[in-house]
Amino acid sequence: MNDEDPVLDDPVGQSLGGRHAHLARRLGRAATYLAEVATFSSVSADPAPEDWADLAGLLGPGAFADMFSCPAVPPSSWEPVFSLEGRQMIWPGDGRPGRPSSESGTDVVELGTDSVPEMLDLAARTEPGPFWRRTHELGTYLGVRVDGTLVAMAGERLRPPGWTEISAVCTAPEARGRGHAARLVSALTERVVARGDRPFLHVAETNTGAITLYERLGFKTRGPVTFRGFRTP
Ligand SMILES: CC(C)(COP(=O)(O)OP(=O)(O)OC[C@H]1O[C@@H](n2cnc3c(N)ncnc32)[C@H](O)[C@@H]1OP(=O)(O)O)[C@@H](O)C(=O)NCCC(=O)NCCS
Repeated sequence: MNDEDPVLDDPVGQSLGGRHAHLARRLGRAATYLAEVATFSSVSADPAPEDWADLAGLLGPGAFADMFSCPAVPPSSWEPVFSLEGRQMIWPGDGRPGRPSSESGTDVVELGTDSVPEMLDLAARTEPGPFWRRTHELGTYLGVRVDGTLVAMAGERLRPPGWTEISAVCTAPEARGRGHAARLVSALTERVVARGDRPFLHVAETNTGAITLYERLGFKTRGPVTFRGFRTP
């Protein structure tokens, strides 16, 4: 489980084939998440035409395939929907996260199924990345409530062997700059490290505010990634 760990080159496939197998749909060597959990899809590392055909069969015609962690490019009959440059960052594995000071009256709480409408609303307002009705089933999601209202959240997403991705980091615009995101990422980092995993995350290159936040907490850049989406033929 070092920084060169190849499982981090295909975190979607490594999660779908391992700790998220109970949330996967598979056909041949193609796999995707259950509807409303995630749109991430995977094929084998060196896919043959029949692997792409299997994934198309699994998803159905004209469906969206989010292939961000797959280095292979689908056949030309798959319509590119978007492409966005980003980076993968990892927790260096030594030490603990910085402990940001708490604002009085705000507690970090675990978010369960009953919080899903609020989580969906916060994600829609802040756009931290894809978030669906069942995304919280991928791991633990934590939130900050102020006077009962959810103003910030973050949670666990992909889980390749030995690693847990921190994702859906977002704070409502009116609650930013108070350390909520820093506290949530730190709390998740502590939980992940305590159970023997290392945290990692993905962020768009244009999101300089989030990159600053993660670097300040101690995350290091492992390398570039391209977030890519396609529509099946
Ligand atoms: C990124 C985001 C989660 C930060 O939330 P937050 O609760 O305001 O973050 P914090 O208060 O913990 O900020 C801690 C530090 O992060 C950095 N930071 C946060 N937002 C920043 C911004 N827009 N520009 C520059 N630096 C920023 C600063 O270093 C800040 O330090 P400060 O306390 O000296 O200001 C929030 O801006 C957001 O929801 N953005 C939209 C969703 C998103 O992009 N999520 C990340 C997906 S990878």
